[in-house]
Amino acid sequence: MNRVQITVNGQTLVGNSHQHLLEQLEHAGLAPEYQCRNGVCGACRCKLDNGSVDQKDAMAYLSAGEILTCQSTPLSDVELTFDYQLVTRAKAVNE
Ligand code: FES
Repeated sequence: MNRVQITVNGQTLVGNSHQHLLEQLEHAGLAPEYQCRNGVCGACRCKLDNGSVDQKDAMAYLSAGEILTCQSTPLSDVELTFDYQLVTRAKAVNE
């Protein structure tokens, strides 16, 4: 497992190169939008401003430079931009 830096809407997190970005953002306490978690709906899309990802089974429509966070694993440090403000979930004690 390689450690990578994930910068999302200007906030930098420490991530890894083996989990999908959506899961990693959720583990960091962020709440990006999603529906299917299967590469179909497109709800989890964001812009990949820098870096590279391994993206599997993306059936949703994507514009140039966009990725599906539910299907993408970082291959390097990445910079992501969501076109909305990400909500931060409060973590429960002992989580
Ligand atoms: S959550 Fe549906 S494509 Fe990612």
